[in-house]
Amino acid sequence: MRTQVGIIGAGPAGLLLAHLLRLEGIDSAVLETRGRAEIEATIRAGALEQGTVDLLDAAGVGERMRREGMPHEGIVLRFGGRSHRIPLAELTGGRSIMIYAQHEVIRDLVNARLLAGGAIHFGVRDVSLLDLDTRQPKLRFHDADGELQELACDYVAGCDGFHGVSRPSIPSRLRREFTRVYPFGWLGILVEAPPATDELIYAYHERGFALVSTRSPQIQRLYLQCNPNDEPGAWADARVWEELHARLAGADGFRLAEGRIFQKGVIAMRSFVVEPMQHGRLFLAGDAAHIVPPTGAKGLNLAVADVRVLARALAEFYASGNAQLLERYSETALRRVWRAEHFSWWMTSMLHTFHDESPFHHRMQLAQLRYVTESRAAATMLAENYVGLPFEEA
Ligand code: FAD
Ligand code: DHB
Repeated sequence: MRTQVGIIGAGPAGLLLAHLLRLEGIDSAVLETRGRAEIEATIRAGALEQGTVDLLDAAGVGERMRREGMPHEGIVLRFGGRSHRIPLAELTGGRSIMIYAQHEVIRDLVNARLLAGGAIHFGVRDVSLLDLDTRQPKLRFHDADGELQELACDYVAGCDGFHGVSRPSIPSRLRREFTRVYPFGWLGILVEAPPATDELIYAYHERGFALVSTRSPQIQRLYLQCNPNDEPGAWADARVWEELHARLAGADGFRLAEGRIFQKGVIAMRSFVVEPMQHGRLFLAGDAAHIVPPTGAKGLNLAVADVRVLARALAEFYASGNAQLLERYSETALRRVWRAEHFSWWMTSMLHTFHDESPFHHRMQLAQLRYVTESRAAATMLAENYVGLPFEEA
């Protein structure tokens, strides 16, 4: 088998890259260990930046998102029992976010790919990357029938997430990794209930962080800070509601609507970056190259920004033979990655309780929260990062 770009992983990064390349007339094949039903049902992120929304639209895969997604022009920071609105659109010249679940984006991209007759090899095993520092790299794998296959490519895109095989294929002496693990995680739940609020609420409370998001008029997405080693089963429904009510309580009488909890999962929190994001003919994109804690809602959006840079660089190469943009891929992508790493770390630090926290630390967080909600300059800083800075050119 032969293709121009071999893509490992059918997450948002791999599927969107395949789609953007097809629009440029570039052939690719996508290898994915899981099955279609599984990737289309995995519950993850939900907030799309303005630039992500615009890119999906421009690429012709935004139609259902426009119909079913929910645009939000502000978010709420809640502390001291009161809500403080950050008017995102007003502070950023009209930019906003869209609430549209990651697995819906996946469904739209899989659909577009299959309609266009593009290859997605689901259920593959034992993917290995060979000859990355030659002009003819190869991907070897067992297909869903257990047959050994070899895919010859011009380039390989490692879009296989944090636990994939692409990043470890770069010799360890040629990569540098930066990590921070946080001493907490999030319990994420899906609930059958009407929305309790028009806009997302990020709540800081001495019992821990809580986040109120939504999926539809009937389904709400809620998160609360927990121990990163907690099993979801340790969180009985009554305990979940007790914590959420306590963390969101206030003199204004705000009350979350309860409902049937039908999904629970625990998310560990880490910051991680590998440098560089390329080696020979391998380019890493998305979670394969970096992880952010979810507080800034940046993970999915960064994956989209990476593949936008990579697709343009590959398009330039195939159109003119000029590999300069490809050579600069890592440098270009990392500028946005580090900005998002900082923003995600900052939001996480401001909004969570740390087990070794001193009364001094708590006062620092409150001072920061007050400043961010009272100063237009500080609120603008949060808003422009949250809706996503404009894409920069290489
Ligand atoms: P992924 O979505 O991880 O896709 C990688 C794909 O590669 C997967 O389908 C995987 O099956 C496949 N794969 C792995 N190994 C191989 C292999 N060896 N061969 C072939 N295929 C392989 N971000 C937010 O902003 N907000 C959130 O609330 C949020 N919640 C999250 C919850 C969880 C449980 C997780 C894990 C992440 C969450 N994120 C969140 C982060 C966000 O979902 C990711 O940043 C986003 O999925 C990155 O997309 P990706 O395509 O780079 O990687
Ligand atoms: C959602 C997740 C996030 O991490 C976030 O910061 C905002 C919203 C969500 O799943 O809706």
